[in-house]
Amino acid sequence: MTRVELQTGFPSDFLWGGATAANQLEGGWDEDGRGPSIDDAFPGGKERLNILSSEDFDWTIDPQKYRYPNHIGIDHYHRYKEDIALFAEMGFKCYRFSISWSRIFPKGTETEPNQKGLAFYDSLINECVKHHIEPVITLAHYETPLYLAKHYGGWQNKQLVTVFDRFVKTVIHHFGDRCHYFLTFNEINSAATFPVLGQAMVPSTGAKQKKNVFQAWHNQFVASAMAVQTAHTFDADIKVGNMLLLATSYAYNADPKNQLATLRHNQDFNYFCTDVQVRGAYPAYTKRLLAQYNLTLADLDRTEAELALIQQYPVDFISLSYYMSTAINVTEDTGATANGNLIGGVKNPYLKSSDWGWQIDPTGLTIGLEELYDRYQKPIFIVENGLGARDDFKDGKVYDDYRIDFLKSHIEAMQVAIADGVELMGYTPWGCIDLVSASTGEMAKRYGFIYVDLDDAGEGTFDRFKKKSFYWYQQVIASNGANLSNDLSY
Ligand code: BG6
Repeated sequence: MTRVELQTGFPSDFLWGGATAANQLEGGWDEDGRGPSIDDAFPGGKERLNILSSEDFDWTIDPQKYRYPNHIGIDHYHRYKEDIALFAEMGFKCYRFSISWSRIFPKGTETEPNQKGLAFYDSLINECVKHHIEPVITLAHYETPLYLAKHYGGWQNKQLVTVFDRFVKTVIHHFGDRCHYFLTFNEINSAATFPVLGQAMVPSTGAKQKKNVFQAWHNQFVASAMAVQTAHTFDADIKVGNMLLLATSYAYNADPKNQLATLRHNQDFNYFCTDVQVRGAYPAYTKRLLAQYNLTLADLDRTEAELALIQQYPVDFISLSYYMSTAINVTEDTGATANGNLIGGVKNPYLKSSDWGWQIDPTGLTIGLEELYDRYQKPIFIVENGLGARDDFKDGKVYDDYRIDFLKSHIEAMQVAIADGVELMGYTPWGCIDLVSASTGEMAKRYGFIYVDLDDAGEGTFDRFKKKSFYWYQQVIASNGANLSNDLSY
């Protein structure tokens, strides 16, 4: 009897590439008419999220008190041609980046766009096209203009839907002839733990009241539907995806109470936003979810017209970030907790952790992909994944075998999901070039295939160097994922 072989290869049009976000790499924060974005008020250092979550944080930029690494990023604003040439050398088929809202509309409220901002992205996109790299554009990657956070209170205010719609229309009408993939709100569900990033809301503007977080989500669901409408009206072939922070969740043990808590956690964290954006309607469990905070749907300002729009314009595909899984235990206190990508949890004894305490779990990627595909039957695009690690830079080289091991195991996990029928569109590892960390503002936490000579104090030449993983990923792409061997000369 012959053995049945499952298809584990990647589709021939698979989008291999890398991912970044404007605020974390561009720099040039006040150049050519750009207005400040919320990230320009984020201090650097491990205390960043604690500072942003404190009652007295009021968006003041105070260079006497803090360093602001996002102001300089890695100077991509001036070096993007060199960077894109390096991506092309690796063989990128696509490049995911964000368009900084405040580079196009400095305060967010203007009616006319900043032409120099458009010119910058014209040049960047043309550079991608020249190298046959498909741009994948994030419309909102934690980058609300600071003015809208300070004067409108962030996304809890419905006026943001109107001004964001103007930004989206400008972007799609201007760049839509060369760009076919757009993502709406980066890690939209991360507001469950840190509304400052995605919703531009802090405790002093009401971020601790869950009603505001749910209202902000609703406003973003409407804005997401409007973005789909704009894109499809402009060109029916443009595809728009949501963007989910996927943290596959396990019950700590077989106690049914932990199993139920895990189901609830999945609904509330992993699925709630995606259910609305993909299925076009609020899920049945919304009432139970809101009741946890003593809220009902009547507490939210949702019009019939908005709900109809959400229903009419669901996203075309699901995009997600995946770095780690999380374990749920409500029956006992094991004492051990784990850090993670904006969401922590109980320490899972079966997993190892990164230098920053994020639990490494490639199997969790297979499980997460299959759960999502079973639930929605929509194509999935992994637009972030990677290992934040300290690199040892010596004589122009970085031997980052640990990063290769991480990525290799996750690509293998993708192959298992593909063999089980998951429709996977592409893979863009995070921070394909070293950039400023979102949660800590550090340079020391590196994800890239390309090393950038810059440290946490802002010192360095900004020169770029190819790590060992650069050549490894080049080989992965050239073989369309067939050759994952780390046996290469460097
Ligand atoms: C995701 C974000 O949360 O994870 C990125 O979309 C971020 O912006 C990435 O950089 C990695 O997180 P960090 O905190 O290590 O930079």
